[in-house]
Amino acid sequence: MTDELFDKIKSEKPLTAPDLRKILELESPEDLDRLFKAAYAVKERVTGRKVFLRGLIEVSNICKKDCYYCGIRKSSHMERFQLSLKEIVDAAMWADAHHYGSIVIQGGERDDEPFIKLIEDAVREIKEKSAGRLGITLSMGEQMPAVYRRWFDAGAHRYLLRIESSNPELYRKLHPPDHSHAARLKCLETLKAIGYQVGTGVMIGLPFQTIDDLVGDLLFFQKMDVDMIGMGPYLVSRDTPLAKEMPDFETLKAQQLKLGLKMIAAARLLLKNVNIAATTALQALDPRGREQGLLAGANVIMPNLTAVQYRSSYQLYDNKPCLDENSEQCRFCLERRVQSIGESIAWDEWGDSRHFAARKK
Ligand code: 5AD
Ligand code: FES
Repeated sequence: MTDELFDKIKSEKPLTAPDLRKILELESPEDLDRLFKAAYAVKERVTGRKVFLRGLIEVSNICKKDCYYCGIRKSSHMERFQLSLKEIVDAAMWADAHHYGSIVIQGGERDDEPFIKLIEDAVREIKEKSAGRLGITLSMGEQMPAVYRRWFDAGAHRYLLRIESSNPELYRKLHPPDHSHAARLKCLETLKAIGYQVGTGVMIGLPFQTIDDLVGDLLFFQKMDVDMIGMGPYLVSRDTPLAKEMPDFETLKAQQLKLGLKMIAAARLLLKNVNIAATTALQALDPRGREQGLLAGANVIMPNLTAVQYRSSYQLYDNKPCLDENSEQCRFCLERRVQSIGESIAWDEWGDSRHFAARKK
């Protein structure tokens, strides 16, 4: 029965919703192996056997949002931190000196002017100090168009904003009433209009989520014509309202990982030339989770550059890996891991999404 599906995948005819559903429902180890190999072949053709790095700098865990799943939501009681301009720039320059090519600056969602200005200044200074070498991605949630514009003008050229779920109904169950799916969509449109390379993504294996929701997510990525995908399995964060919806999470980890990998493979087969991240959430489920993500079709890894002293304060979910490893340790560990699967790191490359170049033609 699955032969038909794999014939279709091989033919590279456009995949339909029923095809994607079948892909996500594959279960036997043999079928999964075939799936991941097929997705890997597409990745190999499109971006080669190499991994682009984005050094991740978590600038602040202060957040005005209260998402029911997130460990740094406004209502969670924890020590809050914010890096100084110098700390941000120093972390970025470390990435530059170590040939990372690109960085991602991520933080909780904030709309206060001092913070907006801090990010703007940081982007400008990093661009200047790296003589334009470092590509800069921002991931700072929903903002006013003028703010996106200021950060773009300062030199950021990519933006990540996960839609979290393409299904507005499901989105509603995961967020307080004043969090708007429509507003988030609008932000994605604005970012594209400004000229950013735009990334989005979802959480996979959420409470209440169906396979059809995930199929919808994949089709949403296609319809939005995005350049980058950053998605990962949902992981329980203790003391968040959503945790109680998955009391048996500990027994579901293997399943969450598998579903995450299937989504990566399906996205690669459907979207072909986009950048897809093997996210930290995969690694939280399995020490080799990110390697498995690469083998299922992902081509980007975001090693954490946040100083160890702040790492434990930026736990979006429980058991986040590498809390005690510094950037230097993560770099060696990563290189070993990438080599272990026969790939190499694309040092000093921006690694822009091929999709973006094609979209702009
Ligand atoms: N499990 C998995 N991913 C999460 N994120 C936030 N909380 C969790 C969680 N409990 C993801 C969201 C957000 C990104 C920065 O982290 O998708 O967009
Ligand atoms: Fe951080 Fe391995 S990736 S220590």
